[in-house]
Amino acid sequence: MAPVYFAVIPYAAMVIAVAGGIYRYFADRFSYSSFSSQLLEDQTLFWGSVPWHYGITIILFAHVIPIFAPSLWVWLHSDPMRMLIFELIGSALGLLAIFGLLALILRRILSRRAAAVTSVMDWVLLAGLLLQVSAGAYITLFYRWGSMWYVYTAAPWLRSLFMFSPRPDLITALPWVVRFHALNAFVLIGLFPFTRLVHIFTVPVSYLWRPYQVVIWNGPGREAGAIGTGGNGGGVTRRGFFRKAVIWALSGAAGIVTAVPALRFIINAQPLSGLVWSKVGDVGPLPVDSPVSMNFEMRSTEAYMHQMVLHDVWVVRRSAGGFAVFSPICPHLGCHYKWDPEMAHFECPCHGSVFTIDGRVIAGPAPRPLDTLPYRIENGTLYVKWERFQVGIPKKVRV
Ligand code: FES
Repeated sequence: MAPVYFAVIPYAAMVIAVAGGIYRYFADRFSYSSFSSQLLEDQTLFWGSVPWHYGITIILFAHVIPIFAPSLWVWLHSDPMRMLIFELIGSALGLLAIFGLLALILRRILSRRAAAVTSVMDWVLLAGLLLQVSAGAYITLFYRWGSMWYVYTAAPWLRSLFMFSPRPDLITALPWVVRFHALNAFVLIGLFPFTRLVHIFTVPVSYLWRPYQVVIWNGPGREAGAIGTGGNGGGVTRRGFFRKAVIWALSGAAGIVTAVPALRFIINAQPLSGLVWSKVGDVGPLPVDSPVSMNFEMRSTEAYMHQMVLHDVWVVRRSAGGFAVFSPICPHLGCHYKWDPEMAHFECPCHGSVFTIDGRVIAGPAPRPLDTLPYRIENGTLYVKWERFQVGIPKKVRV
């Protein structure tokens, strides 16, 4: 799939969602609702809606945390037992969401009353959601430890989109099902203004202060008969025209703002940050042929965000003389690997890749050796240039 899709489709979806969402809100505010059909059928609805909403909400939240707090996420997953627990909880929530969604779909098919009020866009939305959660379940089953490798692959891609500096190359090396899952998520976002998904932003707090006697007659062709809404019999007043113009201006402005990054990507104006030397520590006490994990803080600047980020590297003092400094990120799918002193090799817990002390692959799916980082020693102190490389491909390509 051409990389350009991963920069253009997300922004196109956001433009449609923001501009269309604003337009719908102002032009047809009372359609901002889930159009609940609870009164028509509520038994199956309970078994569908409750598991679906609990499952999908928590899963979505778990997709968002690594985008904005990757260090916290990596720390949470740095212990194999915690990683296993997260994987199990994620799988259980995924099953819960699938169960709920299937119940909602069956209800729309089997309940004649619910089927009667189901629109074409409802079916499109349900099909899109089913594809999305099925792809998510497939990834969980066949590409284990997704909660870990996500933080080094799709999460940085999503972060780059939020930073208005799209990096589609971060995701194009991933398996097709992961790429489909990512793009389908944005297709669903693009469907937002045309479906009942708008209810995500329906927070009914206005009922707290809205006068209770207001009666709104809302439906196709009923504007002329509106009670208390200032209906004018169908003619276009100056006020109505002005209101429409404001809605179009707002929607258009929001659309343009979100379209700019996509255009910027198309004309290839994305900036690349330069590498800097970071001080890691004293190499004097390092043992020979026994890799040591060392960490250091580095100032990171992405778009308009500046923050101090903690990185760690594997440092090996070789008996033959000299050092090797390895990135801690497994070149398979980005998990953190460990040194096993008994076996005298590096081992990745995610899919079992094994590397020698000098980084060569001796087992598992890793497509290339461990990534070395540039280093220099000055007065006994190690300095490293931190960089990241694409995972899942045989060549070492800088991210
Ligand atoms: Fe798969 Fe390391 S991430 S083996």
